[in-house]
Amino acid sequence: MVPTLGALHEGHLALIRTARRENDRVVVSVFVNPPQFRKKVFCKYPRDLKGDIKKASSAGADAVFAPKDDDIYPPGFDARIVLPSFFSELKSQKLEWHYRAVLTVVMKLFMLVRPHRAYFGQKDPHQLALIEKMVNDFNVPVKIRPCPTVREKGGLAFSSRNALLTGREKKAATVIYKALKAGRTEILKNGVGQAPKAVTVTKKMISSQPLVRPEHVEIVDAKTLKPLGKNSRQALIYAAVWIGDKRLTDNIRFRLS
Ligand code: PAJ
Repeated sequence: MVPTLGALHEGHLALIRTARRENDRVVVSVFVNPPQFRKKVFCKYPRDLKGDIKKASSAGADAVFAPKDDDIYPPGFDARIVLPSFFSELKSQKLEWHYRAVLTVVMKLFMLVRPHRAYFGQKDPHQLALIEKMVNDFNVPVKIRPCPTVREKGGLAFSSRNALLTGREKKAATVIYKALKAGRTEILKNGVGQAPKAVTVTKKMISSQPLVRPEHVEIVDAKTLKPLGKNSRQALIYAAVWIGDKRLTDNIRFRLS
């Protein structure tokens, strides 16, 4: 299964192609999950079910599951999935409400489709880690398959929000990937102890583009998403930025030698 919000792009299609190679049947879900959005963003979220069905099927999907809001949340629906200690680490970003909604819908989708494997992008590392934890804690019989981030030619990670950028904004957005790589270079050159300096380097480079404003840059252990420690083997640099009223996120992972 490949769960999505629809408006399929190359990032989604890569997940579908990988699922196609590894399974007998592939189901893609398309559901714009109301509670995981702020109202304004939900209304503006791009929807193109017909186009999605075509794209999913040409990437190898056997079926598209596109439930209605009432199918997922019938009157009286009241359950929520929370991971309190994990959420508390995301507090600075004030996104617990969002991840609670993501976990709850992913659990519903798993129960409805009953896949053996589910494919998720490393583009959203917090989402991926929370889903892995939920599946582990509840013994959900689904194997989670993380897949690498797919990028446009200039390095910008594919996202349905890219369609909302003007030409100038899109060009400016290529600074995000460059800045993440500059942060990585800083750590590889000067060591894990220099993580705060690497954050500064990344933020500064992002700010050098007048159209792009960094909201949040963090460097963490790629496995635990906690601060880097002596035992960390892989690091993750994550950036959330604003371009106009659009929020874009990206990250890279790399081995610490
Ligand atoms: P959506 O944003 O549509 O993403 C669906 C899946 O595609 C996620 O696993 C996401 O990490 C992956 N993805 C997005 N852009 C990618 C890229 N450039 N490269 C690789 N993978 C990419 O994430 C959601 O939907 C929702 O929160 C969902 C899990 C469906 C729950 O509603």
